[in-house]
Amino acid sequence: MSRGKTGGKVYIETYGCQMNVNDSEVMLSILQDEGYVRTEEIGEADVILANTCSIRDNAEQRIWGRIEQFRLQKKNRDNVIIGITGCMAERLKDRLLDNHVVDIVAGPDSYRDLPRMLKAVTPDSPQINVLLSHEETYADITPVRMDKNGVSAFISIMRGCNNVCSYCVVPYTRGAERSRDPKTIIREAEDLFSRGYKEVCLLGQNVDSYFWKDPDTADNDMNFAQLLEAVAKISPEFRVRFSTSHPKDISDEVIYTMAMYDNICSHIHLPVQSGSNAMLEKMRRKYTREWYLERVRKIRSVIPDCGITTDVIAGFCGETEEDHRDTLSLMEEVGFDSAFMFQYSERPGTLAARKYPDDVPEEVKTRRLNEIIALQNRLSLESNRKEIGKVHRVLIEGTSKRNSGELFGRAGNNKVCVFPAEGHKTGEYVDVEVLSCTSATLISRLCSTGKVSGKE
Ligand code: SAH
Ligand code: SF4
Ligand code: F3S
Repeated sequence: MSRGKTGGKVYIETYGCQMNVNDSEVMLSILQDEGYVRTEEIGEADVILANTCSIRDNAEQRIWGRIEQFRLQKKNRDNVIIGITGCMAERLKDRLLDNHVVDIVAGPDSYRDLPRMLKAVTPDSPQINVLLSHEETYADITPVRMDKNGVSAFISIMRGCNNVCSYCVVPYTRGAERSRDPKTIIREAEDLFSRGYKEVCLLGQNVDSYFWKDPDTADNDMNFAQLLEAVAKISPEFRVRFSTSHPKDISDEVIYTMAMYDNICSHIHLPVQSGSNAMLEKMRRKYTREWYLERVRKIRSVIPDCGITTDVIAGFCGETEEDHRDTLSLMEEVGFDSAFMFQYSERPGTLAARKYPDDVPEEVKTRRLNEIIALQNRLSLESNRKEIGKVHRVLIEGTSKRNSGELFGRAGNNKVCVFPAEGHKTGEYVDVEVLSCTSATLISRLCSTGKVSGKE
């Protein structure tokens, strides 16, 4: 293929969060409508797109390394078009063009413009579109699923974020929060179910602030709990998950809705970030340690077996040993099932970068992070041990990487179970009994008559 024409083979690689995974599927849908076909071989691609992440500096460093590898692709085939999309495109804009490798820079709200940019691009006129929108939700676009298993899919229900946590780059790379028309969400979920998918994960930076204001009648307004219920009603055989919940916004209505439907998975990802009120205040999270613990108590009182997972940041600006110990003690008090744990990485342009010195020495950040990880490993193991003897309904996602005679899938609480295949297949629901565990996996056996523990 030569430049300036439509069609050709497109290779997409995705970094960052699940929302980026879904955006890559949206991009592929837009490009397929223009005659492009997907390739999984970078060496045969006419267009290489990297859908990027800016959340921490190391995420960006990785992309810079990739761009150098793309330079080599170009050496061999100078017609190949290199596009950087997503959050790093939005953050760095035309600075990505300086090294003369990148041809296209497309921010998260400009994917409808990709076909035009691909037609217009020449070696002398790289294309850039980093306009953020207040309306774009790609509501009418059916993402082309790139997942391998055909069982579980993501649906973005909103875009952007209005929270401006002081450390976070997302509001700058993704723009203002906007919710997607629920009719299009439900239609997409029904379509997935009719194509054999068994599980959907509703995605947003802060799903609890989902709100659809209907232009015609207030009767059709919808909040997140109502949306969750509408998706759960599609079929009892269709499981619903969601991510991410914000501790300041998760409502009793959402918790009760989860409890009402067996097919809404009992798992809440509730990023705490820190257990110290001084840090939470500086982070602008708008809740306190006490508020967070109360929300956890509420969840557990309504859904006793609910999986609760979190995100933690070690070494935020001005963090003292006492603040750090507050984080450890909160983790211990909650007993999280698992966690994503990070060292604070200053992001240019954020409130924290402008206001607070990044003053915790690197080695202290690393040591604190290691303590947090060690504690979480213990908590994960303890939480998994409590599962021994319980029976879970599991949706089979595929064959175990370690043993081809075994399958794996997740229980409602998001824990991964591994068990002998015994003729079962990906996409089926099975009941398994937990026999033993590691900190990451529940080793299980199939059982046909067992009673499923709690609500799945
Ligand atoms: N919207 C979600 C989180 C999105 S980013 C929420 O508010 O919960 C995913 C995680 O990355 C965050 O929860 C946080 O723990 C981490 N993170 C974000 N910015 C970071 C930074 N500057 N340094 C280190 N970790 C960061
Ligand atoms: Fe970032 Fe906070 Fe928004 Fe999450 S809620 S995306 S951490 S600004
Ligand atoms: Fe990264 Fe953007 Fe997601 S910064 S975490 S890809 S919203």
